[in-house]
Amino acid sequence: MSGVGSLSIEPTARVEFGPGVVQRLPEFVADLGFSRAFVVTDRGLRAAGIVDRVVKVLDPAGVETAVYEDISPNPSTVEIDRGAAGAREFGSAVIIALGGGSPLDAAKGISLLVGNASSVAADADSLWDAAPGLPLIAVPTTSGTGAETNGFGVIEDAHACRKVYIGHSSVRPRIAVLDPELTLCLPARVTAATGIDALVHGVESLASRGANAFSRAYAFQAVSLVSRWLPTAYRDGSDLEARSQLMLGAHLAGRALTISGLGLVHGIGHAITAHTGTPHGIALAAVFEDVMRFSLTEAADAYAEAARAMGVEPAADAAIDSVQFLCGVVDVRRPLRDLGATTDLLPSMAAAAVADAVTKNTPRLPTEPEVLELLHNVY
Ligand SMILES: NC(=O)c1ccc[n+]([C@@H]2O[C@H](COP(=O)([O-])OP(=O)(O)OC[C@H]3O[C@@H](n4cnc5c(N)ncnc54)[C@H](O)[C@@H]3O)[C@@H](O)[C@H]2O)c1
Ligand SMILES: [Zn+2]
Repeated sequence: MSGVGSLSIEPTARVEFGPGVVQRLPEFVADLGFSRAFVVTDRGLRAAGIVDRVVKVLDPAGVETAVYEDISPNPSTVEIDRGAAGAREFGSAVIIALGGGSPLDAAKGISLLVGNASSVAADADSLWDAAPGLPLIAVPTTSGTGAETNGFGVIEDAHACRKVYIGHSSVRPRIAVLDPELTLCLPARVTAATGIDALVHGVESLASRGANAFSRAYAFQAVSLVSRWLPTAYRDGSDLEARSQLMLGAHLAGRALTISGLGLVHGIGHAITAHTGTPHGIALAAVFEDVMRFSLTEAADAYAEAARAMGVEPAADAAIDSVQFLCGVVDVRRPLRDLGATTDLLPSMAAAAVADAVTKNTPRLPTEPEVLELLHNVY
């Protein structure tokens, strides 16, 4: 290994983990010095009864609450602008981000726009040094993105057909409330897609050019927990032990990626989603193994480490076999043609993947023709 050089690790959120810990939300709101909360969530959470459950915890404790639930699975700049208008009208409050990565990412954008009243979500690129947003409490209800660990969100600029990053250090959640009971009703296909997202985070973090001793420690444990418990949680969603371990694994993977950055699986995954609307984890699964094969030589040591974490022979090939096996067990891999892609979209996807900021940390930097060939192979 080359010299360590210098390291700067940002403090991450206070974590409150445990079955039923969501009951303590009023205490967490008060800890941040507030008595009002603006909840950002989506309609799926409303249908699952989780929004009502949270409001029923906040209301009797005297926390005045408003709910904004118009967030779709790939949140758009329009939805964030509307949410910000609602939050400004509601006034001084904590933002409670309740849901999967989509409401969590959207809530960060909404919070930041409240602090920057003359800006809109499409200004994302210029908001990184802007005025601070409202403080956030993140309550993830999927075990996947790890979005509760960082201060950025991935949102869709529908006009530009691309994903944009919106973020600021002030919108990194102050408290991450990890309650595995909230994931007990997550449908198996969402458990699978979000769990594979967490696995990709761990593996890409290990292989990232930005990896260091901190990120590797988190990523190793993340890969170990997710690979061990995802099949059980997929098979039996009511298994609280599996749901708990998976939630911790996804959170650790989020911590890892926040330090190290990710790589080409995410670069291509974002492009697939932006062009077809495919859910994040399914888009990643379409190219996970293939990107690992593409990066095999450059990432051999990292993949061997991933294999060790997955409990198989510590060799790069074994890591790819293991990933293939896990994707099969949870049935997430689809050819691009089944995800709504057409061959004439592939060049534009390849260009977007190479241009995506997340790709710069990948172990083997690709050219557009190389990504295009890879996309044809999984079509
Ligand atoms: N900020 C980050 O670090 C980061 C990292 C990776 C991905 N992302 C982003 O996260 C988003 C994907 O998030 P996701 O994969 O968590 O999915 P999601 O938030 O889009 O949710 C998927 C579906 O599951 C439903 N759902 C969520 N929790 C549920 C529960 N407990 N019970 C029943 N239904 C539930 C939702 O209503 C929704 O319909 C993408 O927009 C992606 O770009 C962000
Ligand atoms: Zn991801």
